[in-house]
Parts: sequence; structure tokens; C-alpha cells
Amino acid sequence: MQTPSSPRSRSSRRRRRRPPLRALLTAAICALAALVILRSPAVIPASAGPDSSRPAASGSSSAQGSAGPASPSGLTPLPAADVHSGALVLVNADYPYVPPQSQTLVTVLDGKNDAYLVRDGSVLLDEEALDALNRLMADFAAQGGERNVNVVAGFRTEELQQHLFDQSAAANGLDHARRYVAQPGHSEHQTGYALDFSLYDVSSGVSADFTGAGEQQWIADHAPDYGFVLRYGADKETVTGIAAESWHYRYVGVPHAHIMTDRGLCLEEYWDLLRAHPYDGEHLRTAVGGTTYEIWYCPAAALYVPETGDYALSGDNVGGFAVTVPAP
Ligand code: DAL
Ligand code: ZN
Ligand code: ZN
Repeated sequence: MQTPSSPRSRSSRRRRRRPPLRALLTAAICALAALVILRSPAVIPASAGPDSSRPAASGSSSAQGSAGPASPSGLTPLPAADVHSGALVLVNADYPYVPPQSQTLVTVLDGKNDAYLVRDGSVLLDEEALDALNRLMADFAAQGGERNVNVVAGFRTEELQQHLFDQSAAANGLDHARRYVAQPGHSEHQTGYALDFSLYDVSSGVSADFTGAGEQQWIADHAPDYGFVLRYGADKETVTGIAAESWHYRYVGVPHAHIMTDRGLCLEEYWDLLRAHPYDGEHLRTAVGGTTYEIWYCPAAALYVPETGDYALSGDNVGGFAVTVPAP
């Protein structure tokens, strides 16, 4: 069972179980890695606006200087990276959730701003996703949006997913449950990167569905600017295996949410696109909010990242990685 953590704590389920000496060593290695990253020359200037949130550097010092075949120029191998971690992990009927080596879940109630509501203190999200959600909802409120959007679900354990599946099957039948509730062990809610919205009227206590229409259209339209995608589109049921869910958003990060939305790709299709852009082939390039990004795919056995440390990394939960680099 997951216990809520404070919004700023960098703990995770795996890390929490580590003995203090190991935690200290990890902290020292992280500090060293951060130093390396900070000393790297900035590749691009920071720009303003929601799209300016370029991927956080996620270099790992453990990979520096490892032996093996010569790296491509300017790149370094990263042999020990975890394919099960990162904002792009694909969890669906074919690919079960596998706990990542590191994940920071935070309590939404503790870390949220006042631009929206949350069901209660049990709702957890990945820290990066919550940060993006706060910015999305603050900007929604600033342009006149009502503060009645309610985050009713975030991270789920497999046990909770089982409970929800059984509950849905009992209430609406097995077919309905299979279309709307992922099989336990196969829900992306288990990653902490997925959330469900509803609407909640505080004065009347009445809840309503988040349809993404009317006033909520602003959120649906702008979510990709903050790294969120509508995960289960009506036209993608044959690919995702899940019926249209206007309330379920998935954090994948900037610039990926933009590319997916612009090209009309669900996450399954986006990974197909990424795999068609390997390091030694043509890279994917996109400009979002004044920053150009270069993206390539690496199989886990041959993962190379920029020596500068200025990149973001996500596993696919299968056997490879997307490397995202803000380009000059
Ligand atoms: N409702 C989504 C598909 C889930 O159960 O994860
Ligand atoms: Zn945009
Ligand atoms: Zn959901």
C-alpha cells in the first residue's frame, strides 16, 4: 500500500525501503550528477510561457565512463537505465505496469493550488505531473475558468484497480467493465501519470462528468501545452482497447503531448512513431513554445544520451527509450 508523502519529498516506494546508508550514497551520487548537469553549458535559452517547460535533465552519473563500443560523438552510453520509468511509459492490456526503480508520488491535496479541487487526501500523482497540472489549472482560472474542476482519481494500486473493476462489472456487466476499466495490473493509473477529472459544485455537493465541452473546452484544448493528453479518444478504441473517456488525462510531458495531439496519435501509436526515429536514423524534431526539441529512440541495449546531461529520458515499459533534447 502506498502512503502519502509530502509534496516536496523526493521519496518513492522503492527508495523508502532502502537503508539510510544506501539513501545517503544515492543522494551523494544525485548531487554529483546535478553538479555535472549544472556545469554543462546551456543549450537553449529559457523562454516564457507554459510551453517553456523543457524537459528536466535526467543524467545518471553511474553511466559515465563505462567501457564498451565507442559512443557516437557527443553522446555517452547509459547502460543501467530503467525502461519502466518515465512519463511516456506505455501501460495497457498488452504491457502490464512494472514498478519503476524510482518514482516520486505526492499528495495532490498538499501540493495543489486553489484553482481546482481534489477528491480527498488519498489522491496521489507523480510530482512532475502535479506541477504541470497546477500550471494548467492556474492558467485556466486566470482566463476566467470556474474553480470547480475536481481531480477524483490519480495513482491507484493494483488492489484498488481490482476493486474498481469488480465494482464496475457488478454494476454494469463485464463487457462494460472491460471497455472502461483497465485490467488490474494494466492500468496507467498505477503509474501516477494519469488522472480523472469531474466537476463538483461545492455549494450543492453535486458532481457531474467532465466532458471537455463548454467552459472545460479550454482545458481540453490547452492540456497539451502543459504535457497532458486525452488518453482514450473515441476514434482510438480499437488501438487502446478502452472506450472514450473525456475525463481521463495522461501526463506524457512537453513536447510529446503536442506532437501526439497535432498528429492525432494515441500513446501506442506515438511509440510506433518514436521507434521509427532511432538514433542512427532521422530524428523527430518539433518546436514548442519557442524551443526546438530533437527526439530519438534507443533500444535498452544501446542507449546513448548527450554528454551535456541536458536531456529527458523515458522508457517505453517494453524495451527501449525516448531521448528528448532541447536543441539550439
Ligand atoms: N479507466 C482507465 C482505462 C483505467 O481503468 O485505467
Ligand atoms: Zn502549444
Ligand atoms: Zn482514468
